[in-house]
Amino acid sequence: MSKINIAIDGLSGCGKSSTAKAVAKALHYKFIDTGAMYRAVTLYFIQNDIDLTNHDQVMQALSEIQIDFEFNQKSQKNETILNQQNVEEEIRKMDVSQKVSPVSAIKEVRVAMVAQQQEMGKYRGVVMDGRDIGSVVFPDAELKVFMTASTEIRAKRRKEELAAKGEIVDLKDIIENLESRDHQDSTRAESPLIKVEDAIEIDTSDLKFENQVQKVLDLAISHLEKED
Ligand code: DC
Repeated sequence: MSKINIAIDGLSGCGKSSTAKAVAKALHYKFIDTGAMYRAVTLYFIQNDIDLTNHDQVMQALSEIQIDFEFNQKSQKNETILNQQNVEEEIRKMDVSQKVSPVSAIKEVRVAMVAQQQEMGKYRGVVMDGRDIGSVVFPDAELKVFMTASTEIRAKRRKEELAAKGEIVDLKDIIENLESRDHQDSTRAESPLIKVEDAIEIDTSDLKFENQVQKVLDLAISHLEKED
């Protein structure tokens, strides 16, 4: 059977990554969480005190960053590796969430990440989630999904996720972070978050997780049947 690429874009915290991961598992495809890559760059910039307005510092830092994903059998999760160090937990913390939008708005950062993402998907068979996958990374993806959900629902889900990891954050702070990231991600000059014309919108506010996964899978299967 031929393979397709599936692009899942959308607002922060509406379940893109968990949906993409489940879809990839069902199809035996590779799952790539591109948000994790921007988060890893942000963590490196924080750790090394990189001045975002200093072009040379940014370029030097990018040349020192190697991002990989490693499947952890125990957690059954693809975990993010920054320069040989597992940073999966650190990149999900609020201090990274608060700084990731300005970092991901930098043109040089995007050029470097998009090149790696295109390399990862060049043989198809990839489910990739992010903000610019259908518009910039794989404009030729066979299936493009644009996910949304109400801010309240997204914030509640994020609060539960963080609490499960022992990080207790006020709902108000999470709402502020989501709204500010949506705004920055949608209004930046470099590849802003947009719903491309050929993307299919799925509002997950009232959907159970299994149902949102099934919706994407149904779309993928109907594409695969067309291809063969
Ligand atoms: O998917 P996420 O919330 O983990 O992504 C973190 C940030 O990274 C998000 O606020 C915007 C940025 N991002 C991006 O600019 N382009 C992508 N393809 C993925 C994420």
